[in-house]
Amino acid sequence: MTAVLRLLRLLALGLALFPFARAAAPAAAPAGDPVKIGFFMSLTGRDASFGEAALRGARLAIDDLNAAGGILGRPVELVVEDNRSLPGESATAVKKLLGRDKVVALVGECASSRTLEAAPLAQAAGVPLVTPASTNPRVTAVGDCVFRVCFADPFQGAVLATYAWKNLGLRRAALLVDSSASYSVGLAEVFAKTFTGLGGEIVASQKYAGGDKDFRAQLTAIRATRAEAIFLPGYYVEAGLAARQARELGLTATLLGGDGFEAPQLLEIGGEALEGAVYSTHYSAESADPVSRRFVAAYTARHGRAPVGLAALTYDAVQLIADAATRAGSVERGPLKQALADTREFAGVTGRTGFDENRDAQKAAAMIAVRGGKCVFVESVRP
Ligand code: PHE
Repeated sequence: MTAVLRLLRLLALGLALFPFARAAAPAAAPAGDPVKIGFFMSLTGRDASFGEAALRGARLAIDDLNAAGGILGRPVELVVEDNRSLPGESATAVKKLLGRDKVVALVGECASSRTLEAAPLAQAAGVPLVTPASTNPRVTAVGDCVFRVCFADPFQGAVLATYAWKNLGLRRAALLVDSSASYSVGLAEVFAKTFTGLGGEIVASQKYAGGDKDFRAQLTAIRATRAEAIFLPGYYVEAGLAARQARELGLTATLLGGDGFEAPQLLEIGGEALEGAVYSTHYSAESADPVSRRFVAAYTARHGRAPVGLAALTYDAVQLIADAATRAGSVERGPLKQALADTREFAGVTGRTGFDENRDAQKAAAMIAVRGGKCVFVESVRP
């Protein structure tokens, strides 16, 4: 164990003696029937890195809640379902969580397509669903039971296009879009609209399907357009592979991405090909905010690495449900949903979180650049 890690562990131990985040002290040990929160994510399969990060964030939140007296004095239990990154499996998972486990609320998914699959079931059951990270606008439009604690893609796409145009001086951009993912299609649209609105040109729009491994045909077509930027609104596996193949084909264009880039595996897969790439995400573990710093210390002590944004957002999603239940004085679906909708100023790890009339949160985007083989925080862009 490195000295830094040892220090962080000590720090976390110290923190455990103090109430974490919003908890009231001193807390009596929770008792009675557990309050069940359902969690569904891609714990295995193609997007497993997302599921792993989210689960780590959720578990830390549950442990902190239980250490601080639980929810309304009852212990909190996370009921975990894995959708294996496969279409259809999120619906199956949520049916189980609702029918078998009678969860009071749901946390999931990360990928917008999978949240869109599950959200109508939560809505039909009247059980609140809080997605930590699905950014497609259609997600919360499913109904009044669906909330998101992160920004949405009309914001993210505009931030990226503006950054590409203004900060990076790019004028000719190509798109490489995962046509099987709502996230990718939606984010590409907003990017293209904003970029052309600024005077830029979209010189190519190529497609692939999530799970593809060979992007050479699309990249060869892009090469012919002499694009200065390639926007990859996809997830880390395909983005990393496409980056590598782009460089192999001699493309030197600046690579741009959205929050789907954020996974430790991105650099493992893409390696040097990603040098100079820029992407947007939800959070930086370098944040000086005290709530965030406590979280980063506890998370790092437990896992030996700093949290990605998804872990932080999922921590917030779980804590926010507990906060709403406490304000409602109930975990019944009606009062819980109302208290969630009334959330305005929740002091989360990822910043102040409140819901607007569409149950969306307005959050800043963190711009990250790949420099010297590391993902470096560049700046924060406010809505
Ligand atoms: N925003 C992505 C989507 O909606 C999911 C994502 C969030 C991926 C955060 C990585 C990190 O599909």
